[in-house]
Amino acid sequence: QTVYLKDYTPFGWIVEEVHLTFVLAPRATRILSRIRFAPNPQAPAQDFLLHGEELRLIRAAIDGEKVEPEMVEGGLRVAVPGTPFLWEAEVEIAPEANTALEGLYMSRGMYCTQCEAEGFRKITYYPDRPDVMATFTVRIEADLPVLLSNGNPIGAGDGWAEWHDPWPKPAYLFALVAGDLRNHADTFATKSGRAVELNLWVRPGDEGKCAFGMEALKKSMTWDEEVYGREYDLDVFNIVAVDDFNMGAMENKGLNIFNSAAVLASPETSTDANFERIEAIIAHEYFHNWTGNRITCRDWFQLCLKEGLTVFRDAQFTSDMRGAEVKRIGDVIDLRARQFPEDQGPLAHPVRPESFVEINNFYTATVYEKGAEVIGMLKTLVGDDAYARALDLYFDRHDGDAATIEDWLKVFEDATGRDLTQFKRWYAQAGTPRLSVAEDWQDGTYTLTFTQHTPPSPGQPVKAPFVIPIAVGLLNPNGDEVVPTTICEMTEATQSFRFDGLSSKPIPSILRGFSAPVVLEREASREERAFLLAHDTDAFNRWEASRSLARDGLLAQVTDASAPDAVWIDALERVVRDDTLDPAYRALMLDLPTQSELAQALFERGVTPDPDAIHAAAKALGQAMAERWRGFLPGLLAQMRIDAPYSPDADQAGKRALGGTVLALLRRIDGGDAAQAQYDAADNMTLQLSALTALIRAGRAEPAVSRFYEQWKDDRLVMDKWFALQVAASDPSETVEVARRLTQHPLFDWTNPNRFRAVMGSLAGHHAGFHRADGAGYDLLADWLIRLDEKNPQTTARMCSAFQTWRRYDEGRQAKMRAALERIKARPGLSRDVNEMVTRILT
Ligand code: ARG
Ligand code: ZN
Repeated sequence: QTVYLKDYTPFGWIVEEVHLTFVLAPRATRILSRIRFAPNPQAPAQDFLLHGEELRLIRAAIDGEKVEPEMVEGGLRVAVPGTPFLWEAEVEIAPEANTALEGLYMSRGMYCTQCEAEGFRKITYYPDRPDVMATFTVRIEADLPVLLSNGNPIGAGDGWAEWHDPWPKPAYLFALVAGDLRNHADTFATKSGRAVELNLWVRPGDEGKCAFGMEALKKSMTWDEEVYGREYDLDVFNIVAVDDFNMGAMENKGLNIFNSAAVLASPETSTDANFERIEAIIAHEYFHNWTGNRITCRDWFQLCLKEGLTVFRDAQFTSDMRGAEVKRIGDVIDLRARQFPEDQGPLAHPVRPESFVEINNFYTATVYEKGAEVIGMLKTLVGDDAYARALDLYFDRHDGDAATIEDWLKVFEDATGRDLTQFKRWYAQAGTPRLSVAEDWQDGTYTLTFTQHTPPSPGQPVKAPFVIPIAVGLLNPNGDEVVPTTICEMTEATQSFRFDGLSSKPIPSILRGFSAPVVLEREASREERAFLLAHDTDAFNRWEASRSLARDGLLAQVTDASAPDAVWIDALERVVRDDTLDPAYRALMLDLPTQSELAQALFERGVTPDPDAIHAAAKALGQAMAERWRGFLPGLLAQMRIDAPYSPDADQAGKRALGGTVLALLRRIDGGDAAQAQYDAADNMTLQLSALTALIRAGRAEPAVSRFYEQWKDDRLVMDKWFALQVAASDPSETVEVARRLTQHPLFDWTNPNRFRAVMGSLAGHHAGFHRADGAGYDLLADWLIRLDEKNPQTTARMCSAFQTWRRYDEGRQAKMRAALERIKARPGLSRDVNEMVTRILT
């Protein structure tokens, strides 16, 4: 049942072309396939096996002769000629009964597909593997106004449409959509003069939420031409918004399918954060056209080849659109919140895993976000020019290929002459490296000695040293930068770097811009960190200095019952009130370490984390900040008010972000008056939601929560926020009850992944609420995961990761989490997805 990277063998046949005819019906869709196969001279001899799951085979023929294939686990086997042949099959499926949202399914009357990673085998019999690429021609028959598939339209009439995709592609990029949809249309002219028709398809009523996504698409197309020299290659680019979707979106060739939450936006219904995320996801899926589609993956172990690179590209895009420093800090916050716990717990796996049971369980923060970090390090090591040359070579050499990480690294080796053998360990070894630092100062020479150590992870007890690019700058005690950012290229377990000719002992700024995904273990004094907070020229490390002071202060509150750190609060005040700084950056400066991060920090220091004590410390710190800043908070809030009409641009969003953070502090001292005033006056969702959050936390949920409900009960995406917020902003003593009560609400449609995540994801994300000592949080989540698994294994499996940190906590909580996991594991008929997750978490 386990699949291994080392077992890769090419498929024994080449697929020359695929013709599919769909006759759509909710309970009995017929799919007729005509596929030309030819023996693959490159492959070892093997049986002819096609994947297929949950299909009813009506008939099959080879070169027009009826055949009776042998049904095997996961597909069929049949005898075939040693020469090229035509395979024909007719199958029947029931899209309406497909609640797993994988393959062809229905979402509120609309037909749609999700084939990555292995969903195509639920549509027809096929070699469903990414290294089998073919051109597809598709005919759709249905009594519906809009019928879409990949590529260009080649014909349409009453009740039918035909599409042809000239670019060979693997089956996971196949897509089909049919329904009563409305179109937001636009056009784009590529650099070389191709006129591209752009369409954003939505259900009736959502037409007003398309403009922003369309602009984001055009910006993405221009950016990829300008920065990577990549142009679009079809006459049409279609995007469809779907309400029931397991992930964010999917890059199907010429027909991207999006979770409606990841594309639909309007100022009244979407927050600034939603707008930014939508822009990034549109870009991400569009960029996949080259990094993913034109160059795809040989097998699913290479997933990071397309995902790491495409995340890296979308981050570059967002930096260019909105500001690099703020984007970088946001990404590091996210990496530490999602990837570090994964890399440091039972689910740790290499960026390129070596085995899996269910590939859907490997669409992880490690593959995506750490995968992007690895590319960032590569770019730092070779430099911008060499990176650009290597990418040009990659596109030239591998266009049309199903490639590997070896191919990717070879391109860099050939373009730069560098040996990347050691660098490749980033793809093979799991775990977050820990980097410690010693310094020495003698006769004008300053020496930094770094030591790296990577703790064991499942299946990998011992790690070899990584190549770590450590960005270092040095400041003198007046705050002048005496050595600008320099990359120390660490390759040994312990290694020293010398800086000569200095007149006084410098203050080091280490790991600038978070130049590598490591944990920096450095016992810098509080004075030194306060100095960096005030003087570092690297915006990231100023933020980092403050963040580490905040963290240590909070930890001292928990372990030594210390008072909140007033010295840090005063130092931070100077930053927060510095009008020369971008408000978005100032808002990030005010963002406190997460409670889960604090729990991990305590655990690493040998202290068993107490979620209630951590919650109390964060609360006391917030209170102290609000009281100490009582004098200027109202003025700062007023300063962040915007008179111009709403725009989701970075400038306005930054002001609202700082305003929102200030409002969250103010409510601790004004009982929510400022929040109430903001709620009453709000004309956009960002202001409305930050006010509602503050009101709930101030214990003044009513009447705002009811008013919000009345205003938005017909908008599914806004109602997701209403569900999520009540759990997320709840007092830990009530979180479980709030979540339970919401599951009884008539609008709690738990088969919709967005709605399920709104409640259960918020429960799992509420550190103190979820980890309630009596285990009620664990039990509630387990109950619902058991229930959802029967319908939707993918979404269930992803949410099992809520339990991945179980070993951090006290024996009582550990026993209760283990019991919850055992209970999930014991469900009769447990899915392969969830079984793999729970088993890994428990061992
Ligand atoms: N390739 C998609 C993206 O990164 C993600 C789709 C993953 N879907 C899945 N069921 N595993 O944009
Ligand atoms: Zn992707």
